[in-house]
Amino acid sequence: MARIETLMWVEKYRPVELKDLVNQEAIVERLLSMLNSPREMPHLLFSGPPGTGKTTAALCIVRKILGESWRDYTLELNASDERGINIVRDRVKTFSRYVGIGGEAPLRIIILDEADEMTNDAQTALRRIMEESSRICRFILVCNYSSGIIEPIQSRCAIFRFLRLNEEDVVDYLRHICKEEEVDFGDKALSLIYEISGGDLRLAINTLQSSASFGKVNFENVKKTAGISGKSEVGKLVDLALRGEFKQAREKLLELMRVYGMSERDVIKYANEAIFKLDLQNLDEVAESLAKYDYRLIVGAQPDIQLTAMIAELGKIGKESGFITKKKETKR
Ligand SMILES: Nc1ncnc2c1ncn2[C@@H]1O[C@H](COP(=O)(O)OP(=O)(O)OP(=O)(O)O)[C@@H](O)[C@H]1O
Ligand SMILES: [Mg+2]
Repeated sequence: MARIETLMWVEKYRPVELKDLVNQEAIVERLLSMLNSPREMPHLLFSGPPGTGKTTAALCIVRKILGESWRDYTLELNASDERGINIVRDRVKTFSRYVGIGGEAPLRIIILDEADEMTNDAQTALRRIMEESSRICRFILVCNYSSGIIEPIQSRCAIFRFLRLNEEDVVDYLRHICKEEEVDFGDKALSLIYEISGGDLRLAINTLQSSASFGKVNFENVKKTAGISGKSEVGKLVDLALRGEFKQAREKLLELMRVYGMSERDVIKYANEAIFKLDLQNLDEVAESLAKYDYRLIVGAQPDIQLTAMIAELGKIGKESGFITKKKETKR
């Protein structure tokens, strides 16, 4: 994973200083003024659409406050992890025990990503932990929708709403990367990438990198990339799942969501298109299974858990239908 990340332009071009964040001027200004006296900094709540700089801003802040050894004093956690709240509680305890001993850092910082995925119970527990630990710990809660955060937590945080990036900023950023990477590009192609990204800079940069892997970033290659990211990769996921290659299928799923920025429901939508291209006897069962998980996502079930369960179910259906024996060895 680490090796892949270093090759990824989203990581290579992630700003390390707040002032280099694009398009979030008002937020950057407020944050910089807070950083003048870090000890007085309140807890922070960052909300907004994907790929707009929330995690990046959080990392810039911890680096600025905690310096070189920021990793020792920071806990980064995905709040949708079931064990999340217990890890927070344990770590806060450890932090409290050691504060003042090696205390060159003014604060300990806990970054909770996807905080809106936490259950209300977990959030209530979190609220208590935030209160009890406020002498030494600051929380940076990151989420897509601040409405998913309970009111008592919201009222304890300074709230920052990140905005989708506009076309000019995204295109400028992509142009800068192309120059750094010495890749040929066309302006029309960059505008198309913006359109595909919908103002999500992560998706834009990933689309740029995939297009560049065809040689240059022109209109044709961007279109090709969009096609690949949208469809054939999901086809591979379905194929792996039906063969019972559970782990590989799940890795493909994570890649689709993290690298291509695909939404969970789009995964199912494209899977539904992909199954008609496969030689399947019980297509009806597969279609019903997809519909079931699509419905569960609409009613708000946990996407990661549901899609993982869907992969498992497709594996069972594939086994019953003899899908594995009919096909040759998996090619990857
Ligand atoms: N405002 C920005 N300025 C500069 N680069 C950005 C900005 N927003 C996003 N990026 C780029 O996109 C990548 C992803 O950004 P980041 O992780 O901060 O997104 P996020 O808002 O946390 O998204 P998510 O909600 O999906 O977690 C970064 O590595 C960086 O390259
Ligand atoms: Mg993030």
